[in-house]
Amino acid sequence: MKESVEELNEKLQGKSAEEILHYFLTNYSDKVILGSSMGAEDQVLTDMILKINRGISVFTLDTGRLFPETYELIEKTNKKYGIRIRVYFPDREKVEEMVNSKGINLFYESIENRKLCCNIRKIEPLKRALPGNDVWVTGLRKDQSLQRFNTKLVEWEDAYQVIKVNPLLHWTEKDVWKYIKKFDVPYNTLHDKGFPSIGCQPCTRAVKPDGDFRSGRWWWEDPEHNECGLHVKEEK
Ligand code: ADX
Ligand code: SF4
Repeated sequence: MKESVEELNEKLQGKSAEEILHYFLTNYSDKVILGSSMGAEDQVLTDMILKINRGISVFTLDTGRLFPETYELIEKTNKKYGIRIRVYFPDREKVEEMVNSKGINLFYESIENRKLCCNIRKIEPLKRALPGNDVWVTGLRKDQSLQRFNTKLVEWEDAYQVIKVNPLLHWTEKDVWKYIKKFDVPYNTLHDKGFPSIGCQPCTRAVKPDGDFRSGRWWWEDPEHNECGLHVKEEK
């Protein structure tokens, strides 16, 4: 690693999201990758990153259980920016074995089943998406949930052997929407229907107008389990 995570956090403290992205795109150039769930935050980051360097790769993990609106957005985003978001699928054999032994909607049965499904459909594909890159850009924000409050701007992800950068860490939901409107960034139409945070269709529902940002995700579980494991540190 060129610099330690501590040095990077110190150097980039107080900088704008654009400045942070500029720093990594300049110093780590083609070793930077954006992981997009196609949520509002990630759409902001896609727009910002491509305005700085059109060569940066964007990937998404298609669990096979996404909303039709999310697939529409992948297509719309590709067309708007003239890119091809790289799609990673879960391992076919593992999915078949899981659903044929535990049921197609196994996740409602227990936390173990839910984590198994997230593991097979998201984490294992993420482990194939990240190698070869030094920097993984994500759209995590501090105020998305209590579990995310201690997230740092720059973190070392030992499980994936990359630096994780969260340029929107200090943004509010309002900041995200201001940017989207200002630059006419394409977004998931479910956001207009009460879905602030969007994941897989069977595990996401709409929330009340002033409801908690992530309360529509895995709503049948206790909020403390409200992470799929992609962001390992938050889960501990
Ligand atoms: S999750 O862990 O609950 O699913 P969330 O939807 O809040 O995460 O998204 C947080 C960040 O994780 C996103 O900004 C994105 O960087 C990454 N992420 C989440 N889901 C995906 C996905 N399907 N593909 C790629 N990156 C994702
Ligand atoms: Fe499976 Fe639900 Fe996790 Fe998606 S969010 S991978 S459907 S448990």
